Amino acid sequence: MRITVKSTLLILASALMLQSCGGGQVSTVGSDQETEKRIESILSRMTLAEKIGQMNQVSAGGDVASYAEALRKGQIGSVLNEVDPEKVNELQRICVEESRLGIPLLVARDVIHGFHTVFPIPLGLAATFDPALVEQGARVAAVEASAQGVRWTFSPMLDIARDPRWGRIAEGSGEDTYLDARMAEAMVHGYQGRTPDSTSVAACIKHFVGYGAAEGGRDYNSTFLTERQLRNIYLPPFEAAVRAGAQTLMTSFNDNDGVPSTGNAFVLRDVLRDEWGFDGLVVTDWNSMGEMVSHGFGTDRKDVVAKALAAGVDMDMMTFGFISHLEDLVRSGAVSEKAIDNAVRNILRVKLLLGLFENPYVDVEASRAVQYAPAHLEAACRTAEASAVLLKNDNGVLPLDSGEVRRILVTGPLADAPHDQLGTWSFDGEKDHTVTPLAALRERFPGKVDYVPGLRYSREERERFDDVVAAARRADVVIAFVGEEAILSGEAHCLSNLDLIGSQSALLKALRASGKRVVAVVMAGRPLTIERDLPNCDALLYSFHPGTMGGPALARLISGDAVPSGKTPVTFLRTVGQVPMYYNHNMTGRPYNNERLLKDIELEAGQTSLGNTSYYLDSGAAPLFPFGFGLSYTGFAYSGARLDKDAYSPSDSLSISVTLSNTGKYDGAEVVQVYVRDLVGSVTRPVKELKYFEKVWLKAGESRELSFSIPVSELAFWGLDGRKKVEAGDFLLWVAGDSATGEPIPFKVL
Ligand code: GLC
Repeated sequence: MRITVKSTLLILASALMLQSCGGGQVSTVGSDQETEKRIESILSRMTLAEKIGQMNQVSAGGDVASYAEALRKGQIGSVLNEVDPEKVNELQRICVEESRLGIPLLVARDVIHGFHTVFPIPLGLAATFDPALVEQGARVAAVEASAQGVRWTFSPMLDIARDPRWGRIAEGSGEDTYLDARMAEAMVHGYQGRTPDSTSVAACIKHFVGYGAAEGGRDYNSTFLTERQLRNIYLPPFEAAVRAGAQTLMTSFNDNDGVPSTGNAFVLRDVLRDEWGFDGLVVTDWNSMGEMVSHGFGTDRKDVVAKALAAGVDMDMMTFGFISHLEDLVRSGAVSEKAIDNAVRNILRVKLLLGLFENPYVDVEASRAVQYAPAHLEAACRTAEASAVLLKNDNGVLPLDSGEVRRILVTGPLADAPHDQLGTWSFDGEKDHTVTPLAALRERFPGKVDYVPGLRYSREERERFDDVVAAARRADVVIAFVGEEAILSGEAHCLSNLDLIGSQSALLKALRASGKRVVAVVMAGRPLTIERDLPNCDALLYSFHPGTMGGPALARLISGDAVPSGKTPVTFLRTVGQVPMYYNHNMTGRPYNNERLLKDIELEAGQTSLGNTSYYLDSGAAPLFPFGFGLSYTGFAYSGARLDKDAYSPSDSLSISVTLSNTGKYDGAEVVQVYVRDLVGSVTRPVKELKYFEKVWLKAGESRELSFSIPVSELAFWGLDGRKKVEAGDFLLWVAGDSATGEPIPFKVL
């Protein structure tokens, strides 16, 4: 980590923020003694029914009147899915002015990657490897959402995903724990603001925990993660987010090792509360409390309500379990009112920290002015640019030379799909504000763009493409926008085949036959298996559903007004049969040793062996593109990578130096990545793990000496004895532009 003045000040600020509050416990959400006193004062005046009402969250989109009575009685503590500022004001007014205690509502929404101005999907945000840029985007989302009364977002999603069949891989930061943690911190700071004010929106880190490890990549399916896997891979991003001040957390749908997260006291109490000291609010995912009956974890709703409360849930999203059964459970002595008091404290704490008691209303007129503000659109465009990953660029087909190019054919089902380029979970994005690649290319290359879609949508089946091929023959270059629509991505939208769907590969093949240069732009919510498409294009730019300004961003990249800098946040597979394949895997006792593949050998009759290491006869042991990979229009060279010592104590920091050179003719950015391998441990360790990255901008021809510092303590892991520590021994370190290249530098920890 590069210790600069700014980072020192931020560390100091966050330490001050973790100031002590009631009872001397350090508050992770930034509470203080004044706030704690107010909580106790309010709580002391609440009836049991009013306390339970605060623990009830309902989806309130639509008619305010139907909730008015419940609000007056204090039976609702939070609503989601109301974003009309006038209706939000009315909901708040009823609570504040017509209920007995006047406790304001916590108004929530899934602002996952932008509110009205939609940014790239979170997998695309991760591909930027630029936390500062991602924080800026979350701040824009908070400014727009809070202006309409939304003060709680169900974001960031921190689920590590190693299986692209899982539709929700789109919503997270990919496969790597370190990258996920940095993105988590950035989004928490962005949503909540470095200094709380009326634009602060409570972040909600989700889905706690292990949801992305769903067996078979099938959403909501069971997971079977060991405590060690939880501790070393899945929990650290959540801990980082708690340290960054995340104010709320959401439980996950899955049962892990037989225990549904919404009833899992180990993660919700032992880890989250007792080890991390989290004093924010825990909300269930939609009806996940009720679904514990379906899981077979409880006999009925009353039973699972008691289990959820005992495990540490504060607020119930859409089961109506707390509001229906908690009073009886207290009266019968099955649950204590003390447990309810603690849940209500956590809820009141977030409402007080957001300033809702002082100002629950929004200025409706003013709320309109901030939506789609030019600065917001500019930020969305820059982020979409930085999120695109250049995977192929033979003979420098890209960028197009606007002086040399006379005619461009734009084709494919995603060239002009204003809703679909917004991606999944873009509830408040409006396609009328989306600028598509077709529109942007027509503006960037006036009079030179022809458009023949070829396919109306990705799943369309078509034998011939005579119209497209004829148009291609009249053009100098073809740009084909293919991939998957937003609806094929996201929650419950899992796929068992990751090839380009429908006749899209056939379209690329037909275009290749036209003899013209072909640029493929893939828009998707996951890494698709595109190996068979690579021979049919000269260049391939991967754009994870880029959002409102995806068109201008892609036009800028295609024209060279901007240079690609994205890196793969997740491994790209050759075939879905390779799942799960990720870079930070274990070595195994029989690592692949370059055995030849079926396609390279003549099978002799009666042959008895084809190699005995860990690989696939048909697709080998390597992915199509590794984690952290991405090309540029320029080139980058690493030289002189070295460590300041060859042996360190656990309290030292590794000081790493390297010279990075821009060897091409374009200014550009390289994501410098530092990986470490612990060669021998009390348990087997990954072949490498990302421990630092930094996006470095260099002018064409420029060289720069870079130095990074990584505390040796960052190499700690949960070992055989169930404790987290750095184990002495031999290590290797790489400084490279992706997870598959670079020369290892040995060092020891003593
Ligand atoms: C959904 C999702 C969760 C979301 C919630 C509210 O089912 O699992 O991520 O925040 O419900 O919409």
